Amino acid sequence: MPMFKVRIAETGECFPCDSAQSVLEGMVQIGRRGIPAGCRGGACGVCRIEVLSGSFAHKAMSRSQISEADQQQGRVLACRIFPDSDLELKVLGGIRRSVLQQEAGK
Ligand code: FES
Repeated sequence: MPMFKVRIAETGECFPCDSAQSVLEGMVQIGRRGIPAGCRGGACGVCRIEVLSGSFAHKAMSRSQISEADQQQGRVLACRIFPDSDLELKVLGGIRRSVLQQEAGK
């Protein structure tokens, strides 16, 4: 399975993610409490992210969470996308606080 590197733009933190693994599953490896907090099925929206660079495959995402306009701007659900290259992303959904909290004070 090809392995890619995913970078969180806000913190510069990186985690590995292979192409059979959702970006949310990869993100779990950075070990913050509260990830994942959601449904992991594309329905709740807590894992909403914006992909700044890189390519990915995706499964169906609820239009109530991700509109067509969102998707065109790279806003997607981390539990529904699978990397096809290294990615850089911003975290927008409810997991944002968990992802961005600093190592210290964990
Ligand atoms: S975890 Fe619920 S939409 Fe991704």
